[in-house]
Amino acid sequence: MIHKKLKPFPPHFLWGAASAAYQVEGAWDVDGKGVSNWDKFVRIPGKTFKGTTGDVAVDHYHRYKEDIQLMAEMGMKAYRFSVAWTRIFPSGRGEINEKGIEFYEHLINDLKAKGIEPILTLYHWDLPQALQDEYGGWESREIISDFTRYSVELFKRFGDRVKYWVSLNEQNIFTMLGYRLGAHPPGVMDDKLFYQVNHHANLANASVIKEFRKYVPDGKIGPSFAYSPAYARTSNPKDIIAAENAEELNSHWWMDIYAWGRYPKAVWNYIESNGLAPQIEEGDFELLSQGTPDFMGVNYYQTTTYEENPLNNGAGIAKINTTGEKGTSEDTGIPGVFKTVENPHLERTDWDWNIDPLGLRIALRRITNRYNLPILISENGLGAFDKLEKDDVVNDNYRIDYIRTHIEAMQEAISDGVDVLGYCVWSFTDLLSWLNGFQKRYGFVYVNQHEEGEHDLRRVKKKSFDWYKKVIASNGTVL
Ligand code: NOJ
Repeated sequence: MIHKKLKPFPPHFLWGAASAAYQVEGAWDVDGKGVSNWDKFVRIPGKTFKGTTGDVAVDHYHRYKEDIQLMAEMGMKAYRFSVAWTRIFPSGRGEINEKGIEFYEHLINDLKAKGIEPILTLYHWDLPQALQDEYGGWESREIISDFTRYSVELFKRFGDRVKYWVSLNEQNIFTMLGYRLGAHPPGVMDDKLFYQVNHHANLANASVIKEFRKYVPDGKIGPSFAYSPAYARTSNPKDIIAAENAEELNSHWWMDIYAWGRYPKAVWNYIESNGLAPQIEEGDFELLSQGTPDFMGVNYYQTTTYEENPLNNGAGIAKINTTGEKGTSEDTGIPGVFKTVENPHLERTDWDWNIDPLGLRIALRRITNRYNLPILISENGLGAFDKLEKDDVVNDNYRIDYIRTHIEAMQEAISDGVDVLGYCVWSFTDLLSWLNGFQKRYGFVYVNQHEEGEHDLRRVKKKSFDWYKKVIASNGTVL
């Protein structure tokens, strides 16, 4: 459908950017912070590019004022950040660390003072290591009450000022990389455990959302899902069913449970017949149906194209690469169901991710048609090898093109009738890429931080900074 006239962006549209505690804060052992799974994992030789850690990251912990000042200069309407659980409860539960609360208190107050809406993510992958050691973290049902206690503490402390909350960031990715591919902590490869861990995460998510209603009745909460819409390679019905299987297994499996509190039938039957179904206890589905979100958070980077797996013998695997990093294994999925292939119609980024703005419109429409929920685009952006040139200039025209075309696609989707609450670009400043150190950059602001050599952490506005500033000021009319 071509709209003769596009709908304008809503007047209070949340033009923003996003980050995550481990990727920006640094100060890994400062002011009583406990050790997280990532603090431990990055110290295992060979896990990250040149052994890079988040010990310093971009030092946002000490430089948050400067960073917020830059956000204000840009005119940003919203900033999505995550809280490090280990700053609040150093061992995951027990005593509260008031120093940790204080840091986020200052951050939130500073954002509010500058007219920037805080969007708080409760969990962006940095689990207290103590909980991993004690009971296996997400592997045990104990995580449900611990995650709820931690979240309720934040609702009580910040619920008066923070109105937008993200529960779990990319559950599909952290469980996939942590329990199927072994590329992220805890580095496990176990298909059955993967489904069990997800069931616990679903329950924890629902439990937290249920509590949220009591403490922040006027707020909005939802998970952020890494959605990569599935395309079929050809019109061969065998490819079509392969793509549908992929959509069910890689997306509906998570989003159905978030939105409706139930697992999609075809997937359930499939994993059950393969002996992979999670153990369900009495009352689980009741809780799941009570913890439905106000919006679906969507992290969109690219689409994935599928074809039939002719072997159907376990050789075919689905590629999930919204977060998988170049040079590491990114293939995953259920063996024997489908196979991922390159899409010849799409260009690719420096990191070999396809560039598909129309895919964003497709993603937004599919979610709306299936779940009829408002959508927060909680991440979208371009990772590239940016170059700091003479006189502190970064000409990231490719990033401008990427974001512009995605904003255009989003406006088409809004004109189609999709209710989009906001758009958070990943990321505001450059930050640590989990496995890739600082070579892969996403920010509007360059940070002079490197794995090796000179790095004074100074902030430098890229060309895209001024461009996005104009987009915000014109509420998306000047692209
Ligand atoms: C999604 C994740 O939420 C974020 O942490 C990551 O760095 C970006 N994608 C880019 O890979």
